[in-house]
Amino acid sequence: MDRKIDSPCIMTIFGGTGDLTHRKLIPALYNLFHEGMLPQGFLVVGVGRKDKNHESYREELKASVEKHSRFKLNKDVWELFSQKIHYYRMEITHSEDYDGLKSYLNSLDTSFSTEGNRLYYLSVAPSFFETVTCNLHAFGMAENNSSWQRLIIEKPFGHDLKTAQYLNKIISEVFPQENIFRIDHYLGKEMLQNILVIRFGNAMFESFWNSRYIENIQITSSETLGIKNRADYYDSSGALRDMLQNHMLQLLALVAMEPPASIDAKSIRDEKIKLLRSITRNNLGTIKENIVRGQYSDGAIGSREVPAYRNESGIPRESNTETFIAASLMAGNFRWGNMPFYLRTGKRMRQKITKVIIEFKSLPEILYFKEYKGMQPNLMEIRIQPSEGVSFSFNAKKPGTHNEIANVKMDFCQNCSLEHNSPEAYERLLADALKNDQTLFTSWDEIEASWMLVDNIAQLWNEEKPDFPNYKPDTFGPPEADELLAKKGHKWWNE
Ligand code: BG6
Repeated sequence: MDRKIDSPCIMTIFGGTGDLTHRKLIPALYNLFHEGMLPQGFLVVGVGRKDKNHESYREELKASVEKHSRFKLNKDVWELFSQKIHYYRMEITHSEDYDGLKSYLNSLDTSFSTEGNRLYYLSVAPSFFETVTCNLHAFGMAENNSSWQRLIIEKPFGHDLKTAQYLNKIISEVFPQENIFRIDHYLGKEMLQNILVIRFGNAMFESFWNSRYIENIQITSSETLGIKNRADYYDSSGALRDMLQNHMLQLLALVAMEPPASIDAKSIRDEKIKLLRSITRNNLGTIKENIVRGQYSDGAIGSREVPAYRNESGIPRESNTETFIAASLMAGNFRWGNMPFYLRTGKRMRQKITKVIIEFKSLPEILYFKEYKGMQPNLMEIRIQPSEGVSFSFNAKKPGTHNEIANVKMDFCQNCSLEHNSPEAYERLLADALKNDQTLFTSWDEIEASWMLVDNIAQLWNEEKPDFPNYKPDTFGPPEADELLAKKGHKWWNE
């Protein structure tokens, strides 16, 4: 039930000269244009404080598209697309500048038939979310008359439950909930969307998707990179707020939720909320023994020496911010009982990989399971990135006259063929916001349930000083993360 992007609009990007605009937003829009998905009446206005004109702005963006777009830059396509890009200089903290922006956008409506529709994108530091939203309101730029006005807001949505509630209150006084699009870019990834199809489009999978057949589920999102140039943001967030509160819990919700009544945004969100609430409710009392945190020391990634987190530029030498977290959580509902969901995420680890592993229960120790050493439980692996696909491993007889058993794999690789070029997460998300489809955006209730859990973890951590650093780069995190699983008789499936 794909809706078309047919209504014209102006997308105004606050933070128009920033990193996200260059690396993700403009390349994504270029790709949508390349595929003929943008409507005729579509304009982008990049808002920034630097002094530049439309032409110089376009030239800078062209270099970024050349570098980051999944389609190679085509000169003719760029020529047409770049005419849709405009630059507007203002100080977003100066209220008086919004009047000028309003008149400018209105004048573009007249020349380009964009009919007063607006998509405002907040690609600025969270400390500016309130200022921009309130000014849009004060200058009558967020009113829904005969046109539509929507707001896209980047993560982090708050720093804890209290600040998130405050932010939600402020923006929902200006925009109705149905016009607020909270980005979690993981939801735009192809294989995350595929989780629901795999689960609810196959009788075979759905019938064993419960704790009677599954031993545990492991969700890993590891990175080899450090914190790049985001010291201030990262040191006040850590892996808990940066990854677990949003991407990891969203992944968990999709893997573990009940079937929705329909595939519309509301039905899917309703099920995700129920799951997140049950995760929060069932784990608050057991956080201490079920969460492990880590911080990387100095070491090497391959042959490259890398500094310890505490020696990264801009990070305080005594910082206790975690760059790794592993959690064992229970959903505690009829489907999952006490079956553990293991989540882990971290920086400077062995691999850049996001994957979900479903480990099935082993058969009783009779027949082959008694005879042969090294029989493995069946594993299903959903690979989110960089490789996209699903594989299933099982035991089979090795061909030959001896009775030997080998672990073999059936594999569906989505991005193996050269022609395949999955759309970037932001392409899908921007297209959906333009179509007014909320399915892949996070609702306020989901954010609230996630913060409740995260606040409890943060509070517990505040009471104890960690023994950091506790893991080397190019590893799978601190040994305590392995012990977390070992005490339940499990292990991480790393390869
Ligand atoms: C972002 C985090 O949301 O996700 C970053 O702020 C992290 O710290 C990034 O590196 C990971 O995204 P991806 O798409 O590269 O897995």
